[in-house]
Amino acid sequence: MSRRCFVTGNWKMNKTVAEATALVRELRGLVSMVRDRVEVAVAPPFTALYPVAKALEDSNIALAAQTCHAEPSGAFTGEVSAPMLKEVGCSWVILGHSERRQFFGETDATVNRKIAATVKAGLLPIICVGETLQEREANKTLEVVTTQVKGALAGFAANPAFVIAYEPVWAIGTGKTATSRQAQEVHAHIRQVVGGLWGQDTAAQVRIQYGGSVKGDNAAELLGQPDIDGALVGGASLKAADFAAIIKARA
Ligand code: PGA
Repeated sequence: MSRRCFVTGNWKMNKTVAEATALVRELRGLVSMVRDRVEVAVAPPFTALYPVAKALEDSNIALAAQTCHAEPSGAFTGEVSAPMLKEVGCSWVILGHSERRQFFGETDATVNRKIAATVKAGLLPIICVGETLQEREANKTLEVVTTQVKGALAGFAANPAFVIAYEPVWAIGTGKTATSRQAQEVHAHIRQVVGGLWGQDTAAQVRIQYGGSVKGDNAAELLGQPDIDGALVGGASLKAADFAAIIKARA
């Protein structure tokens, strides 16, 4: 079963509209040749989504949001809904990122509701899971990601288009990357958990990205693992050349 490599750039709270559009204009040129081999998406902050969508027209780069609210509209000051994201040109929504869980109180239950909202709006989720350093040191990694995956996917029929991102919290923005062996072990386990819920055929199609200090110089090794189907990239997605190097590591 071949899964097309999928690399997403999570810009977090970075880039003004001017900076964001300049970055994607440069990126377009750098990655145009990987058209069929690697799927690419960028996730700018909300304010830059629409201008970036315009700057990406007729390109092979898709647009992702970094979160959404679970309701389509209503009295939720400061929030943005999935239908709004669809309207400005998003195809994907990153959900359950560890920073959302850590700083904004997201739980597996809220992630589950946000996935439902995402799918209802015609978008696809990139669902983030991963253990903290403390959990890894207590040998709880597989248990933690099992709970997160089951909690996120509870109630959904098998959907091979969902993407899961394994992001060990201790590797995010720290310059510490999981070794390819550590990452592969967890990816294979996540695929098994998905297989338990959705059957082996679907599990073989679901793409699982790795995230946590992915850079041009470690991408090839990580992306070469049998169950690592792409990357969710933070810091190194903020410069076109750095991000393109990761994309080309697989292309
Ligand atoms: P990083 O972030 O690449 O800067 O470690 C990854 C992420 O948070 O998705």
